Amino acid sequence: MNENTYKVLKILYDNLGCACSGEELGLKLKMSRAGVLKHIKKLKALNFNIISGTRTGHTLFDDKDLLNEYYISLKLNSLNIDLPVIYKETTGSTNLDAKDIAAKLKHGLIVASFQTKGRGRKERVFISKEGGLYFSYIISPQNLKPYDALKTVLFCGIAVCRVCKKYGIEAKLKWPNDVMVNDKKICGILIEMISSSDILQYLILGIGINVNNDLTDVISTASSLQKIGGKTYRRAEILAEIILELDKIFDDFLKNGSSCLMDEYKGYCNTLNKTIKVVENEKEFIAIAIDIDSEGFLIVKTQNGESRLVTADVSIAEASIKS
Ligand code: BTN
Repeated sequence: MNENTYKVLKILYDNLGCACSGEELGLKLKMSRAGVLKHIKKLKALNFNIISGTRTGHTLFDDKDLLNEYYISLKLNSLNIDLPVIYKETTGSTNLDAKDIAAKLKHGLIVASFQTKGRGRKERVFISKEGGLYFSYIISPQNLKPYDALKTVLFCGIAVCRVCKKYGIEAKLKWPNDVMVNDKKICGILIEMISSSDILQYLILGIGINVNNDLTDVISTASSLQKIGGKTYRRAEILAEIILELDKIFDDFLKNGSSCLMDEYKGYCNTLNKTIKVVENEKEFIAIAIDIDSEGFLIVKTQNGESRLVTADVSIAEASIKS
């Protein structure tokens, strides 16, 4: 990302909908008018909606769903988040990219608008079509242990639900962390960790959200924000809001422990108190989901008693309430 191009964009963004003359921009950034023009051209080539008039100057309108390093940084910056961003139009998997670069980057974001090898839980394929938002957030939280991993998996789902709420969409979590709206999946989360002995070095929070993509032809059990809300959303804005919530959640977790977050998680969880079908290690059985314990395990009750689930797949068998 070119710093001067970003600075021009930032001034235009701070004056959204109002014209800034080439002279004014040049003075502020200690650049010639020709230099300013070069950056404006670059921004237009990146599809920014900038209207230029010989007398008035340059006016930016924020009316498109763009995805590029400049726009993502702008949206992060408007929430006071300063983070290195790597944007790739297409990649295999942002989680794999993040793994490769985690030791160097330590804290940063890899974002793509299309993945050719999107990965889901248990090595499943995560369909990652154009119009969706696919990113991996590399963090290195101090004092977390590998056994905290399941809790972090659950808490990432809270971040997505909080952001959906801000957009007027009521999302629920199917344990452990599929984000559902009206019983259709709109987001999948895959967390991978890099640890040595019992030290958790990096966490890679991989999140894929169906934003402006239509999956109805491909998977009947999936939906997208666009389909639900009936409009196009700005992916960079959603991304910035999620990063903000993830940062708050990890701060809270490290300072105050997991109990309040676990209560919030349970409030969003639509698996509890339901009869569910459990698939675990190639075995299938029906159970009632009765609780989530302090470690994030799902407690289920069957005819043979209670058990704790950690890696199982669950689906709601029927909408029966209470054991
Ligand atoms: C699941 O539903 O099983 C989890 C899906 C996780 C998908 C995201 S998209 C960004 C990141 N890169 C990947 O390859 N996977 C995660």
